[in-house]
Amino acid sequence: MPRVFRAVDINQEEKEVRKDYFDRHTPVIICEDHAIEGEKFEVKVRLGTEYTHPDDPDHYIKYVQLWNREKFLAEAHFAPGALGNRPEHVEVDFYIVPGPVDMNLSAMSVCTQHGLWQSESKEVTTGKSK
Ligand SMILES: [Fe+2]
Repeated sequence: MPRVFRAVDINQEEKEVRKDYFDRHTPVIICEDHAIEGEKFEVKVRLGTEYTHPDDPDHYIKYVQLWNREKFLAEAHFAPGALGNRPEHVEVDFYIVPGPVDMNLSAMSVCTQHGLWQSESKEVTTGKSK
């Protein structure tokens, strides 16, 4: 079982020392706080708020997954060179259709050299349309 790097497991001191390493691998969920049941809802996942990740043949982000609690929702795969063989922020826009229950979204990413990385979770309330 590979180690899963989670933002909440990394202490502040370690985060400061290796800030670029953690930042470029950690997925961040960007979406609205509220969704409408039955309507398409955009969830962006972006790696790195400040630092970009390499896109080399032997070192690249292979895939990004979106989860709602324990339920797998979606996945996007990348081939090496998809981002022009230069460092870049990996970004994926997922479109999901929420049910009636509030969501707790999280994302996972896999680097071909540095393993699995998990985002902080994002609470999204779900309601009926007006
Ligand atoms: Fe990496």
